[in-house]
Amino acid sequence: MSAENVSRRLRSQDWFDNPDHLDMTALYLERFMNYGTTPEELRAGKPIIGIAQSGSDINPCNRHHLDLAKRIRDGIRDAGGIPIEFPSHPLFENCKRPTAALDRNLAYLGLVEILYGYPLDGVVLTTGCDKTTPSALMAASTVDIPAIVFSGGPMLDGWHDGELVGSGTVIWRSRRKYAAGEITREEFLDAALSSAPSIGHCNTMGTASTMNALAEALGMSLTGCAAIPAAYRERGQMAYRTGQRAVELVLQDIRPSHILTREAFLNAIRVNSAIGGSTNAQPHLMAMAKHAGVELTPEDWQVHGFDIPLLANVQPAGAWLGERFHRAGGVPAIMWELLQAGKLDGHCATVTGKSIADNLENRQSTDREVIKTFDEPLRERAGFLVLKGNLFDFAIMKMSVVSEGFRSRYLSEPGREGVFEGRAIVFDGSEDYHARINDPALDIDERSILVIRGAGPLGWPGSAEVVNMQPPDYLLKRGITSLPTIGDGRQSGTADSPSILNASPESAAGGGLAWIRTGDTVRIDFNQGLCNMLVDEAEISRRKAEGIPPVPANGTPWQMIYRETVTQLADGATIRGADQFQKLSKTLPRH
Ligand code: FES
Ligand code: MG
Repeated sequence: MSAENVSRRLRSQDWFDNPDHLDMTALYLERFMNYGTTPEELRAGKPIIGIAQSGSDINPCNRHHLDLAKRIRDGIRDAGGIPIEFPSHPLFENCKRPTAALDRNLAYLGLVEILYGYPLDGVVLTTGCDKTTPSALMAASTVDIPAIVFSGGPMLDGWHDGELVGSGTVIWRSRRKYAAGEITREEFLDAALSSAPSIGHCNTMGTASTMNALAEALGMSLTGCAAIPAAYRERGQMAYRTGQRAVELVLQDIRPSHILTREAFLNAIRVNSAIGGSTNAQPHLMAMAKHAGVELTPEDWQVHGFDIPLLANVQPAGAWLGERFHRAGGVPAIMWELLQAGKLDGHCATVTGKSIADNLENRQSTDREVIKTFDEPLRERAGFLVLKGNLFDFAIMKMSVVSEGFRSRYLSEPGREGVFEGRAIVFDGSEDYHARINDPALDIDERSILVIRGAGPLGWPGSAEVVNMQPPDYLLKRGITSLPTIGDGRQSGTADSPSILNASPESAAGGGLAWIRTGDTVRIDFNQGLCNMLVDEAEISRRKAEGIPPVPANGTPWQMIYRETVTQLADGATIRGADQFQKLSKTLPRH
């Protein structure tokens, strides 16, 4: 199909070719002449394709999109479209304080306004760093404009002293070694910096690689797009093809609402288990589903995701990094396994114009060291366990990273397998944790559970990746590298911590975590998905009179607006009420 045979009047023509409003059309057209665009181009009825540019100097993970956009433009032009590139709000996971999570909804809002209010017929969403993917897909869904995800790809594999060092995972590992006195400060820094050898986003299966994989699993990017390392030539080729395809999506009027169905989201949940994906996928998929008008429940993670085995031998749940994962077949090879096992809905539509099943033809992996078969996985039942009780209505635990050592220490006590009781050590925010974790008076031992609160969307604000708390130095020196942790915040997708996280409602919203005290016994029943503090109702009522533990004041205007509007992590931490706005591109804004 070529641009010439589009019969439908394009959205952008209401701006550039509107005989009823010649004055406005003149105004709309004239300033694009500034960079040499001609009125003939803009009035030719060619699809105008936005390139939502998420790269900049302030988001190094996505910065190479500035170069890749040239190939996206080539693809758009060759397919008969006109590219218009614009910046989206930067979201740099590692650097934004108090947390990049605060800005996901801000980036979403910004992109909605651009896609709705400017003369665009379709959009290429450039993605990479953690929240760049969900914010972009959330916006594309709200506007329901033809859209396609183009991932930037992970960095090359990092090496240090002959060992693979992955983004994030090297930090958690080195932090333990440093606390145990095994390495110096310089060695810590050296190892950490070696994990970032090139352009690209985190090379582990952290939140960035996870969310790009899930965008592909949802059907929103070309097949094989997610895992191509940023520096590979295939990345540039994928940019070109994505640009071409964006034009065809407009001509064929294929919109996110045709692709982002409930079945597509359930596929994504299953793929997340199989890749050992990030716990951040839970709020992000929930948010994307909300804006797509799809009903997804917190329990869907348990019902559809928990029993799926771990197939990707990639850090943090496995051994390898992005390059090897890509060479082993990447996301399509994982999906191929799930499809053969009957665990994927192959009928789902995708941006390729074909079904998932069609896209996956001949995508079987040949590298069984990195991508396991469904029948001989790296680990059985690798999804998220969903828990509830008097501490929260909802929390998740990522089972794929729970080590054998931890399982045998905590989950295999004869006679009460899967049940654990421990003494709570409660911290109010990460400053409190850092100040007191090594305090001998807390008497932390193997039977302790570390609890952190004030780390949720309202409390932090934005919800922080702080639940993966490491044990005190004296336990690390004894070889106890992890304790069970519970929190109303999140944890890094690269962490291998056995944490119960994303607890909702959070302490700052009056959730049960607000009423727990150091010394309380917490009982976790993994078989029944229950997590309770063994404190009687009368005592809880007494504590309620003491009030909710305080959280920091708003630091910026957006923090104020965010806190006034945000939902809990169980609900995706979306903007309350924003999901009433659906399919905005169907009606044009006034001019
Ligand atoms: Fe940007 Fe990990 S910090 S991808
Ligand atoms: Mg992170």
